[in-house]
Amino acid sequence: MDIEVLEGLFSWFSGYVETFKTGDFDADRNMIIKEDHTARVRGEIREICLALGLGDEDLRLAEAAALLHDVGRFPQYAMYKTFSDRRSCDHAALSVEVLREEEVLDGIDPGERELLLRAISYHNRASLPEEESDGRCLLFSRLLRDADKLDVWALLLDYYRRRETEGYRNAALELDLSDGGGISEEVYRDLIAGEIVKMKNVSSIDDFQLLLASWIFDINFRPALVSVKDRGYLDTTRDLLPRSGEVDLIFEILRSRLDERIGAGGRRDGSGASSLHRPS
Ligand SMILES: [Fe+2]
Repeated sequence: MDIEVLEGLFSWFSGYVETFKTGDFDADRNMIIKEDHTARVRGEIREICLALGLGDEDLRLAEAAALLHDVGRFPQYAMYKTFSDRRSCDHAALSVEVLREEEVLDGIDPGERELLLRAISYHNRASLPEEESDGRCLLFSRLLRDADKLDVWALLLDYYRRRETEGYRNAALELDLSDGGGISEEVYRDLIAGEIVKMKNVSSIDDFQLLLASWIFDINFRPALVSVKDRGYLDTTRDLLPRSGEVDLIFEILRSRLDERIGAGGRRDGSGASSLHRPS
């Protein structure tokens, strides 16, 4: 992707986001949260790409994926006043719909357009579809998923910390989950089995914080796993949860699994990338 094309996408994005700002404090605050999240995901994806040694063209394509992945969040919030997909709609599918309707990608290479739309549509799924076999599409999908997780996890940790210490609340970030209630049995089972927690099993904020922690099983690339460790995401998540032997055991498993995965270099199957791009 050329720099001019990427710059054109930047200016479309800025203009699009502005159309959702109404002067209403709560609504605008949530639009800005997603605008800022988008900017940080661009930064995260650039860092991962650079650490993997990807070239400039690929770097720009990855940045375009990051820039556009959450455009559906703006109409989602405007229509439903929530970021809960369960209570509204699949925001990734809505991103694709917006990009098609607004003809945002019409001027770009058809192969790149298809790749971007697919990577964006997959970014919030529990896992990548098994039928997706295109190596480049898998590479960019995994880059986007890792970059997105790094920022969403940090954003929510910061929110939960402020919620505890300052009493700051934002209903849109609570995803309609209840306080307390302990850890669901299914969530505990997923974690002990070394699996990502399933959203359908999440019924409290504690469960959701454990879902975030279980992302260490799903992050693909070594540089992203190293960021999770260096930034102390697991320790901060642990500190937000009630102290119990159950929680201690979970975090012991998660910490050693994270170290193992970093030692092994992230994904072992080459992630559909060429040997140059293999995460190691
Ligand atoms: Fe998203």
